[in-house]
Amino acid sequence: MITEEENRLICEVEGDAPMGQLMRHHWIPALMSEEIETDGKPVRVRLFGEDLVAFRDSNGDVGLIDEFCPHRGPSLYFGRNENCGLRCLYHGWKFDKDGNITEMPSEPPESQMKERIRIKAYPTHEAAGFVWAWMGPADEMSAFQAPPFAPDADTKVSITKIKVPCNWSQIQEGQIDSAHSSTLHSSDMVPARIESAGANNTHWTRPSTDKSPRIFTQRTPYGFRYVAVRRPIKNARTNDYLRITVYVAPFISLIPPNDSYNVCSINVPVDDKNTFFYFVAWGDENCIDTDEWRAFNHAVVGKDLNTDYSTKRTLDNDFLQDRDAMAAGNFTGVPGIPNQDIIMWVSMGAWPERQEDHLGASDLAVVEFRKLMVEAVKAFKDGSQPAIGTTQSVIPHRDIRSWQGIVTKDADWTQFGVGDIEAEALGHTKTEAS
Ligand code: FES
Ligand SMILES: [Fe+2]
Repeated sequence: MITEEENRLICEVEGDAPMGQLMRHHWIPALMSEEIETDGKPVRVRLFGEDLVAFRDSNGDVGLIDEFCPHRGPSLYFGRNENCGLRCLYHGWKFDKDGNITEMPSEPPESQMKERIRIKAYPTHEAAGFVWAWMGPADEMSAFQAPPFAPDADTKVSITKIKVPCNWSQIQEGQIDSAHSSTLHSSDMVPARIESAGANNTHWTRPSTDKSPRIFTQRTPYGFRYVAVRRPIKNARTNDYLRITVYVAPFISLIPPNDSYNVCSINVPVDDKNTFFYFVAWGDENCIDTDEWRAFNHAVVGKDLNTDYSTKRTLDNDFLQDRDAMAAGNFTGVPGIPNQDIIMWVSMGAWPERQEDHLGASDLAVVEFRKLMVEAVKAFKDGSQPAIGTTQSVIPHRDIRSWQGIVTKDADWTQFGVGDIEAEALGHTKTEAS
């Protein structure tokens, strides 16, 4: 049973909160690259309770700086993005991407003031469709490594972005909760007499009707893997259907793939009660296109989402749930897999009261997440361990994979989906997909 204090350790990410500080020891996906154009409009980016603005300067480089001008405090979101810097409209102070003040037209030319003042600026790196930021201590900045959803520079990545009004950890627990997919998403993840999970324009298919998977977990240097074992529709006497999900601490999850693309989620805290949820499809040229992916998820800006990526479906309008559609056979009355999840996450309250939960056998991976992250954040807080996932470079993120498939009942699930390096690190040999 989790205590109130442990719950706070998992949830709190603002200011000096240890979980927020732990996360800052990883490169953070701050926004999507597509959100900012060279010399174009800046965008507001709130992360870990800090209000920032991002802009792309005349060289195409990204600045991520304090939203508020250090002179007298107006928002730089309204500033001019020109000639390699963002200029405050009030008195024209101008800031470059590194936080230097390059012009101070309201001060006399001989003034030394601009050498003495800086604006807060975080280093950035672009990869896999994201602008990543280093928000941890400058002297502990790690080398950027390819994320698990873009192992190669030419990996096709399609991103759905949604701002969700709840704590990051509720969303994270949804990503490692295979059991809910057979119920909440039952109208979109449809059982079929197939050999392996599939995807088309309207729904996903899976070779099982089993709603109560048996869950087993395995810790790894980067987090943990777990399997959900289901009865397959075909040959249930001799075979099992395995869905292996991977948690790459602190905020990335690799969801089992289908026959067209892989799926990944990332939860980036906006503050204690809001989160940017990124749902990523990735793979080779067969991977779904970005526009199709957003349409499939019913998460299109202008239609389903506001320009700040918040949803038009909210608690106040009952998420526009369609009871007639439910009566006609749709399970939730809400289209789009993420939208169905969002109703669950947000209706729990923006801050989870985990002490009230009644966990069952299907919640084993959720329990493992809570145990792992409470241990990790306590060890980070007291200085006995570095931030989880920052010391073990032995398994590069680009080699980590989720997996799904039908195997014989005597098969050892831990051997499926691991690459050569991971198999060696975990001390077993790799088994190819059957
Ligand atoms: S308040 Fe920004 S330049 Fe004066
Ligand atoms: Fe879900």
